Amino acid sequence: MNRVGEPVLEFGEALEIGVRGDPSIKAGWKPGSNAFESDRHEGRRLAAVSETDRVYMRRALRLALRAAGRTSPNPLVGAVVVNDGSIVGEGYHHAAGEPHAEVNALQKAGDRARGGTLYTNLEPCAHQGRTPPCIDAVREAGVARVVVAMRDPDPRTDGKGIRGLRGAGIEVEEGVLREEAERLNAGFISRIKRGRPFVLLKLATTVDGRVAVPGRRYLSGKSALREVHRLRDRLDAVLVGIGTVLADDPALTVREIKGRDPLRVIVDADARTPPSAKVVRGRDPQRTVIFVARDADVRRTNKLREAGVLLVTAPRADGGLDLGAVMRWLGEHGVNTVMSEAGPHVAGALVRGGLADRVLLLVSPIAGGDGPPALEGVPKASDLTDVRVRRLGDDLALEGTLA
Ligand SMILES: NC(=O)c1ccc[n+]([C@@H]2O[C@H](COP(=O)([O-])OP(=O)(O)OC[C@H]3O[C@@H](n4cnc5c(N)ncnc54)[C@H](OP(=O)(O)O)[C@@H]3O)[C@@H](O)[C@H]2O)c1
Ligand SMILES: [Zn+2]
Repeated sequence: MNRVGEPVLEFGEALEIGVRGDPSIKAGWKPGSNAFESDRHEGRRLAAVSETDRVYMRRALRLALRAAGRTSPNPLVGAVVVNDGSIVGEGYHHAAGEPHAEVNALQKAGDRARGGTLYTNLEPCAHQGRTPPCIDAVREAGVARVVVAMRDPDPRTDGKGIRGLRGAGIEVEEGVLREEAERLNAGFISRIKRGRPFVLLKLATTVDGRVAVPGRRYLSGKSALREVHRLRDRLDAVLVGIGTVLADDPALTVREIKGRDPLRVIVDADARTPPSAKVVRGRDPQRTVIFVARDADVRRTNKLREAGVLLVTAPRADGGLDLGAVMRWLGEHGVNTVMSEAGPHVAGALVRGGLADRVLLLVSPIAGGDGPPALEGVPKASDLTDVRVRRLGDDLALEGTLA
């Protein structure tokens, strides 16, 4: 942990513990096998079995993470099929509408799945979606045991998948690496349970906690900038306020690494976004959503619409638009995760509104910034939890979860 330049994996960082040193998988080492042979004591045997389960579950989580930012509205899911102590098939859910992880892994395994164990970080689905229910595929493959990290919070499955498997005589183990699995799918869980995406609030600051320095385009160094682009690639959407559009004209695309661009979301009550802004003129303007007030100037909204961006109305609230309504709209449209790259006004409003889940501060070694403090108008102090501190070049990355 906390190595220089290590990617920010707030949706999967717990996976790094152990996964990094996972020689068992590649070297063909059979986890727990030594304990089986050398120790007949039942308690030790059970402990060895669950350690084996954790090793394969980490592998499933790791596979799931490969599709971060690609599966929404669906969750991130990986699956591993093990028979006779070796992996005989593995896979993950690549994108919505494509086969589920279990099906990919079972297909790879073929006949070798018979009598084996299937590891998957999410309960196999029991419902007909764009693809048939996975529990049918698991049953047909002849799998003897299924290990899941967590139940699928989607009410169409929630427990039904596990009951269906047990009803078919398959042994099911639940809760292996549950915490890691919940962290990995924090966005999906948030959307299903709270009706809104998981929100990561990113802010770059000077040592005096300011977000701007006159005459400088970026506060962060190259390494921190790459982190931001990596996050843009992994999260579904990025959000800024009109203040940021007017001050910086950001493109909000992925350029520092290879990746795909997130959905761009602008909150702009009076439709002041210039049609010449990069978020409007960019490659795919239909991937930009501008939230405006109902009474925004019609000529301006028409110009933006003609430029190809999507305009959505939201109620006005203190200091701008009702960000809760904005988040609900995003949730309804399948957005699991959002990174705010807004300035202090929107950042403060997100915290005050209880809409910011995790904060990522990139502190640069610059003294003497400009403008309001990073979080405008947050009235009461609260301690962040699950704190992580890293060094990115000469910048400090401090992140934590808000209560
Ligand atoms: N260092 C960083 O991480 C960072 C990031 C972004 C920006 N910046 C800097 O921050 C400055 C701009 O700051 P800013 O705070 O004006 O940018 P911002 O937070 O991105 O935008 C603020 C604008 O968003 C609109 N808005 C819509 N709903 C809102 C709500 N519920 N609460 C508050 N505002 C809402 C408001 O305009 P309407 O009322 O017209 O809708 C408001 O003026 C620039 O100097 C920029 O360079 C720094
Ligand atoms: Zn499924």
